[in-house]
Order: sequence, then C-alpha cells, then structure tokens
Amino acid sequence: SVFNHNVDATDKGEFRHYMMKEIYEQPKVIAACLEGRISESKVLTSCFGADSGFLKEVENVHIVACGTSYHAGLVAKYWLEDLAGVPCSVEVASEYRYRKVAVPKNTLFLTLSQSGETADTLAALRMAKTLAYLTTLAICNVPSSTLVRESALTLLTNAGAEIGVASTKAFTTQLTALLITSVAIAVENGLSAEKEKALVQAMRSLPSYVNAALQEDAHIKKIADRFANKHHALFLGRGAMFPIALEGSLKLKEISYIHAEAYPAGELKHGPLALVDENMPIITMVPHNDMLDKLKSNLQEVAARGGELYVFADKDTELNNEKNITFTEVPKVERILEPIVHTIPLQLLSYHVAVVKGTDVDQPRNLAKSVTVE
Ligand code: G6P
Repeated sequence: SVFNHNVDATDKGEFRHYMMKEIYEQPKVIAACLEGRISESKVLTSCFGADSGFLKEVENVHIVACGTSYHAGLVAKYWLEDLAGVPCSVEVASEYRYRKVAVPKNTLFLTLSQSGETADTLAALRMAKTLAYLTTLAICNVPSSTLVRESALTLLTNAGAEIGVASTKAFTTQLTALLITSVAIAVENGLSAEKEKALVQAMRSLPSYVNAALQEDAHIKKIADRFANKHHALFLGRGAMFPIALEGSLKLKEISYIHAEAYPAGELKHGPLALVDENMPIITMVPHNDMLDKLKSNLQEVAARGGELYVFADKDTELNNEKNITFTEVPKVERILEPIVHTIPLQLLSYHVAVVKGTDVDQPRNLAKSVTVE
C-alpha cells in the first residue's frame, strides 16, 4: 500500500545531510500520518482515542506552539475557520504562558510540537490545565514525550525521528494532522458528507503531490546560486500561504543565515516596499485561487522597483519566466492542500542556499533541535 513506510532514523543513506533525507521522506511520512485516520470518504474520529466526543462540543480553538510548529498552527486557523466556521487563535507559547488569557466557553486547547519537550509549550499546557478549557489535545511527533503524557488527547504525526535542526517533515505532517482535525471538527459543524469525501480524497493524493513537488529539486538547486551573495530576502503570500511564507523565511534564516522576512502580500505597500531594490530577492507563493489577480498586482509593484522575483506557482497561473521573474512550477492541487505542497520548494530552496554558502545544514549555529530550557 502507499502507506508502507520504513523510516531509518539514524542513517543518512544516499543523502549528504539529514535535512535533505527528511525532505525526501515526506511523501511516505505524510502517508503514515494519514494511515488509519481516513477511509475512502471520511475522517475516522477514532484517531483521537476513545474520547472523540469533544469534537462536537468545540466552539473555539486556542493553538499554542513555538517556531515551525507555530507556523503550522497559523495555517490551521485558516482551515478551521474556513471549513468548520470555528474561531481559532494562534499564539507562540512564550507569550501565551506569561499573560492572562480569556477562554471562551467550549474552547479546545491545542498544542503543536515536534519534540513534545519544548519548555515554553509545556509551561503553556500546564497553565491551560488550570483554565476552563474543554480539553487539551497535543499534535506531536514523539509518543513518549512529556507533552503527550500531560495532554488529555494526542494525535501523533508519525513522521519518524527528525534529526536536522530545521524542521521539515515534522511540519508537513503537523499540517496533515491539523487538516484531519479541522475536517473532523467541521463535520460536527455541518460540513456535508459530499464535501468531507472530496476533502478526504484530496488528502489521499497528498503523498503523490508532495512527490511531484520534489521533482523541481534540480531546478531549485540552480536558482539557489543566486541567493548565496544576498543579505536579505522577502517572502510574500496571501491567505493560508502567508504562514507558509513565514515558514520559508524561517528556514532561510535558520540554515543560510540570510536575513529574511515574510509579509502578507497586501501589506507590502505599508512598509516593506521601501526596501525593494535589485539586491532584495522576493519569493512569492502564488496558488491559483481567488487571490491570484491581487497577487499579480503586488508582483507588478515589486517588478516596477527593480526587485528580483522568484515566483512559485502552478502552470495555470500563466506566470512565466520574464525579465526579473524566475518561475518555479508547483503542482496544481486542491486549494486546501496548497499550504502543504507549497512548503516543499521553500525547504529545497533554503537547503540548497545553505549548501552553496557552506553552512552547517543539520546543526546551524546557535540553534538547538529541542529547546528544553527557557
Ligand atoms: C526549536 C527548533 C525548531 C522548532 C522549535 C519548536 O527552535 O529548532 O525547529 O520548530 O524548537 O520545537 P517543537 O519540538 O516544540 O516543535
């Protein structure tokens, strides 16, 4: 079956770095994350354990996490509000834990963590348990972790051990688990069986979509050369692609040491446009959806100022290589899956830039895989 997987955590195999091995594992670990959680047409709520009754009570969701896991949470806000109509707020754990939080009735407290040992996230969970939440759910990659032990409910991401400090497969499997959770909550909030089936069938194609996105590796490697002498980069996205821009900029910072920022494309004119010149590469995710025309006009604003544009989009956008525009094709997928599939080329870009710059890809300076102290 496509769900077969056998992840050997300690062997880099044919790859030079763990990060690249982990990027290439994504089709199979996403399949592993879906395994047993969806049927041909439905999300199997038994994946939340014996007590899946909370799903129909959820009226609000508070998501708390750090780093890359926080970015996964930001994507889930779009999914939960869009599919389920359930209000969702997302906050970094180091902020959440030090303030007075107002908890609306029937709010689910949801943490995201690869390691399940991040000190701020654990402190946030412990605080949440003293507040009037409906229940606590951890989406986590390490079954034996403190976060899993201390949360009422768990959905494991099943990504296998992640060694590279820059999180890759842990992120896309978190997104997969969040999509399962969002659809499960949406079903209890009136999502039709027909729509559920369409979403689930789209999810079943995820491993092959991610595999298709990986095919651009050689092309992205060539582009990477042009970033090696840059000091800054700007990532733009709209809608659920904005958190993916944030994640792309974090990856570039972490392993290439290039200062990168992400903006929702509509905010460009409120400040960052002042920075745009020929030394500022601008990376934009352009999914083919209803925001496309708006995004195209943002791109023109940038091109008019001599900015060098790197556009990641599907063929249907009719965007192409032009003066100042470098085009990278991303497979065309169902709208709901765009954030997951568009993550892949950004991981590849930061990886190849880091390799060109000769940084320590798997062990970037000053960073730890798991931040277990404050
Ligand atoms: C560290 C890692 C990041 C990770 C973050 C949260 O900063 O370097 O890659 O996203 O911690 O870790 P967690 O294990 O809670 O997801």
